[in-house]
Amino acid sequence: MKRLFIKTYGCQMNVYDSARMADLLAPLGFAASETADDADMVILNTCHIREKAAEKVYSELGKLKLMKAAKAAKGERMILAVAGCVAQAEGEEILSRQPAVDIVVGPQSYQRLPEMIAKIVRGVGHALETEFPAEDKFDHLPQHSISNGPAAFLTVQEGCDKFCTFCVVPYTRGAEFSRPVGDVLAEAKALVAGGVRELTLLGQNVNAYRGQGPDGTAWSLAKLIAMLADVRGLERLRYVTSHPRDMGDDLIAAHRDIGQLMPYLHLPVQSGSDAILAAMNRGHSVGDYLRLVERVRAARPDMALSGDFIVGFPGESDADFEATLALVRAVGYAQAYSFKYSPRPGTPAAADNRQVSEAVKDARLQELQALLLTQQAAFNATCVGKTMTVLFEKEGRQPGQAMGRSPYLQAVHADGAAALIGQIVPLRIAEVGPNSLKGILLPTHEAATAKRVMAD
Ligand code: 5AD
Ligand code: SF4
Repeated sequence: MKRLFIKTYGCQMNVYDSARMADLLAPLGFAASETADDADMVILNTCHIREKAAEKVYSELGKLKLMKAAKAAKGERMILAVAGCVAQAEGEEILSRQPAVDIVVGPQSYQRLPEMIAKIVRGVGHALETEFPAEDKFDHLPQHSISNGPAAFLTVQEGCDKFCTFCVVPYTRGAEFSRPVGDVLAEAKALVAGGVRELTLLGQNVNAYRGQGPDGTAWSLAKLIAMLADVRGLERLRYVTSHPRDMGDDLIAAHRDIGQLMPYLHLPVQSGSDAILAAMNRGHSVGDYLRLVERVRAARPDMALSGDFIVGFPGESDADFEATLALVRAVGYAQAYSFKYSPRPGTPAAADNRQVSEAVKDARLQELQALLLTQQAAFNATCVGKTMTVLFEKEGRQPGQAMGRSPYLQAVHADGAAALIGQIVPLRIAEVGPNSLKGILLPTHEAATAKRVMAD
């Protein structure tokens, strides 16, 4: 057996892609390894969304170069590959910045890894693939292996046609593409047969899903979810990431009508200022977003909302930033991600001459994060004393403890639950810790009652 180490940066789609790369290389004799030490192949599955993420790759490559040399001194080979969005965006440049790299492969061409490895083994020098057709990739990947517990990701859509002026995704992941309904169903069923209870449907614009249905028409995400909800044994469904412009009426209704669809919605807004939203080319206003949130909450009153925010977009004034804080206060987020604007090569906003200073970005980020953290703590506090179901995914740090997720995607720990991994169990939330909730198992008879209550 040869040892394969994959390091994953960035989003959940990269996590999915890394798993698929491991599936693809298993028949070649590569078994997953926990460390890069002495590995026969190392893949960095990279992220290009912000400069910091991209730069990390080069410092990691510096370390790997030394490991590769140490292995070569013993007469052994370490194949070094850069995959993901940095590979797509920088291509050849990676090979010139770090000649120890053997393979550069973009997110839509990693199905070609076996032949690229063969090339390297034959001593052909470097191999580079940065082609685009996403459909090609899915047609050439082996069946998804099911090794990572009861909650799994499934990519249903890739790419983005929205061209927000700050974002590299349309360039690194290409145009919007949806996998056919039949392919998604087959993969979902295989995962469920392997013990998966919860699926998170992935896409850069997942709610723009328009996959070809068995009837030949384009199915919406809501229709896809309704079909998956009928798969026996599939008890929870989630989807991420959504664009406000693609939040269709049927998807909102699905949150009211489909019990398996979890009450958590990641709906990035980026800014609370109409002027900045226009400069970002988001295609929606603050009012549009707030009305959308209202409709979603009308359909599912306990919906936990999450979002993404960028501070310090070019031209963002103090008043624009205040408007973002006002939007956050108006919505009330259960959880959120916030970032300092990072100029990305080739995107329109990077060329804007009204860049905001680093000091101002820092101060704004701090203020926004403090507010978001307060909201998150407030949301978590409302859960104390409540009974909610948790899908236990893995062991916790303490012996006998297990960790799982609530319907609202909060991490929950419970003592004495290690035997319940893979099951959905009602818990009473006892307290809020720094990074997770603490739940207590109910006595069996109470558990049965609670199950009925949750099902109602
Ligand atoms: N700078 C900072 N944040 C960015 N994002 C995307 N591009 C940039 C950038 N250039 C953020 C957005 C997006 C999330 C995935 O990353 O908030 O929703
Ligand atoms: Fe990037 Fe905007 Fe597309 Fe999201 S919608 S991936 S932020 S361009």
